[in-house]
Amino acid sequence: MSDPILRLEDISKSFGGVRVLEKVSFDVERGSRHALIGPNGAGKTTLFNVISGIHDPEQGKVLLEGKDLKGIPSRKRIKKGLSRSFQNIRLMPHLSVLENVMLGQHSRFQFLDMVKPLNFSAKSTGKAEAIETLNSFGIDLYEGQTVSSLPYGIRKKIEVVRALMSEPQLLLLDEPAAGLNTAETNTLRDLLKEVSNRGITLLLVDHDMPFVNSLCEQVSVMNFGQLIYDGPISDLKKDEKVLEAYLGMDEKTERSNA
Ligand SMILES: Nc1ncnc2c1ncn2[C@@H]1O[C@H](COP(=O)(O)OP(=O)(O)OP(=O)(O)O)[C@@H](O)[C@H]1O
Ligand SMILES: [Mg+2]
Repeated sequence: MSDPILRLEDISKSFGGVRVLEKVSFDVERGSRHALIGPNGAGKTTLFNVISGIHDPEQGKVLLEGKDLKGIPSRKRIKKGLSRSFQNIRLMPHLSVLENVMLGQHSRFQFLDMVKPLNFSAKSTGKAEAIETLNSFGIDLYEGQTVSSLPYGIRKKIEVVRALMSEPQLLLLDEPAAGLNTAETNTLRDLLKEVSNRGITLLLVDHDMPFVNSLCEQVSVMNFGQLIYDGPISDLKKDEKVLEAYLGMDEKTERSNA
């Protein structure tokens, strides 16, 4: 039976008069691992920005657990169980790994609880949880290091850990495997399966198809701001519109390389 945690209804968005999302509608089922794919510029990050409240759609609705999120700012969406990582890493480079990860807990603890010297319980609970999650991602040894001193692959993992700290029901991941080597990508896939096994729904954008194929069951495909496929990942290769979108891209690449 259908039980969507997220429902997108006819989402449209323009920048400077140019339509970048055109009536995009699809559901993300509770507990699923759902991919959103499509060529560069298709509108994937823009759709994430609409879902997470960074952009207002001109038209259409975002429903989380059946409730319309219209007018609810990003920080309140986090409290409602929606968390995300960013395509371009958005950590505080001058802070330590632990400090960055603990910033992800702000939606759960009051800011004063985190900084007040006397509030040992909130601070120590938060710290213990942060270290435990860093440990489960195999990066607890970096806890005291400044983020800017760390390699890209580690920073990508820290972004995911930070996003998990708000205890989301739905986690949006924008290109979590970009820039990772094969071994790092495989480790990330296994970690995300564990996250999913804890009951967290995953909606992820990535261009790495082996990664997407080995992690997700459902996929929505966008091209030029429109949804061109929504269904099981197993049927993706048979779909004509998808083949055209990706073949078109290969032809362009070949032409530009010629
Ligand atoms: N803030 C903005 N202002 C103006 N145009 C924007 C803005 N954000 C995105 N766009 C444009 O919207 C279109 C969709 O961009 P978007 O970043 O959503 O694509 P994407 O599918 O995430 O691509 P990629 O796979 O390269 O990350 C592009 O043409 C982009 O230039
Ligand atoms: Mg993008």
